[in-house]
Amino acid sequence: MNVPVPTGQVSPLHEVNPAKDWTPKSWQKFPALQQANYPDQEALSAALEKLGELPPLVTSWEILALREQIAEAQNGKRFVLQGGDCAESFDEVCSPLITNRLKVLLQMSLALIHGLQMPVVRIGRFAGQYAKPRSSDMETRNGVTLPSYRGDLVNSVEFTEKTRIPDPERLLQAHAYSAMTMNFVRSLVDGGFADVHHTEYWDLSWLEHSPLADEFHKLTESLGKSLRFMETITGRDVGSLRRVDFFTSHEALHLPYEQAQTRQVPRQWGWFNLGTHFPWIGMRTADLDGAHVEYFRGIRNPIGIKVGPGISRDWLAGLLEKLNPGREPGRIVLIHRMGEANIEDKLPGLINAVHDTGSPVLWISDPMHGNTESTGDGIKTRRFRKIMREMELAFDVHRAHDSRLGGVHLELTGENVTECTGGARDLSDEDLKRDYKSTVDPRLNYEQSLEMAMLIVQKHARNAS
Ligand code: PEP
Ligand code: CO
Repeated sequence: MNVPVPTGQVSPLHEVNPAKDWTPKSWQKFPALQQANYPDQEALSAALEKLGELPPLVTSWEILALREQIAEAQNGKRFVLQGGDCAESFDEVCSPLITNRLKVLLQMSLALIHGLQMPVVRIGRFAGQYAKPRSSDMETRNGVTLPSYRGDLVNSVEFTEKTRIPDPERLLQAHAYSAMTMNFVRSLVDGGFADVHHTEYWDLSWLEHSPLADEFHKLTESLGKSLRFMETITGRDVGSLRRVDFFTSHEALHLPYEQAQTRQVPRQWGWFNLGTHFPWIGMRTADLDGAHVEYFRGIRNPIGIKVGPGISRDWLAGLLEKLNPGREPGRIVLIHRMGEANIEDKLPGLINAVHDTGSPVLWISDPMHGNTESTGDGIKTRRFRKIMREMELAFDVHRAHDSRLGGVHLELTGENVTECTGGARDLSDEDLKRDYKSTVDPRLNYEQSLEMAMLIVQKHARNAS
């Protein structure tokens, strides 16, 4: 994805802090939560063997380049924008959906670059975000009990006995769909995506409905002007001026799938997960003595850790010690997802605990997962107001504790779905019935996503003044 080669400042070619007593399968000796239960073990082994032979989806060079960019973000020189679907689905691997998702992420990143006056690291929740943690192994509907849907990597959302049984063939399909997605994203990004760089082509009709319409108009006007200015002085389209970096990420939940894509490469030491640039550990699988932490310990990718309100200071410090014993820059991103009601109470102690370890981390805010609720009709939603409030509090709490918020992690889509309420158009609970597409968590739609990017810019400016 047009990724620059690393300069070698972060991860030298010679061995540094290799994980002791680790192999890509050493996780198997530890308790693994949230795994699929395959009735046909032979078919599973055959699929994993095949998966282990397929070409990788990313390269070690790209992974190391991302580590360097994260290290720069840790020093306040870059801001991270991570976003995409809660769960991708095989049915949605198609041109318009991928194009629109990329477009909204690029537009958001341009607003952030302009507003924050720093480069943005773009990381998609895509090309592999196919496995989901569930609160229960089984689901019962009208007296029928079947395995829960665990993402398209494992089974189908359709509630029939046949489609809910974990199917190993899906592991190969997920790899193929991820490869198709990456291939298309790489081409789009290489092509420059010309219209994204012209704010006059952006759909900004929602601005009129925002209480901040004037401020947002000023922001888009000055962004448009600066993009045009760049074009005028260089005589070239902005899209072709600078290479667009795009990285991929997913929750590395399904450990056999991740193991099969964990490889060594020529002229590099250690092991890389070559199925994605940036895998993260979900909140439900971050046990210090669990299989996921064991797996992540040995790969050289930069890694994310979801940090929820239930994590203690010692637990978090223990994770840093285990996952980054050499205190290497660019290795750890802590993605806090507290909920707007908890963040002021829970985050300060964790910031202090991390500070006491002396371990370098990048803190980013996921204002989505702690703010999920059900409407009176039982529809899962998130209120824009609460998402915005958690994001704003995240900036403030870090600032008040001698720390820095270095990015955001959002569930979003480029479509005009109605899954989260509020935003400039003030979507209501009734609106959720109109265009609700997600099979898992509710996402910000195109307009709400752009609005969130502008609110981040605005918050940043207020804090700086
Ligand atoms: C997610 O990111 O979709 C998710 C399940 O998050 P968490 O682990 O923070 O609950
Ligand atoms: Co989610």
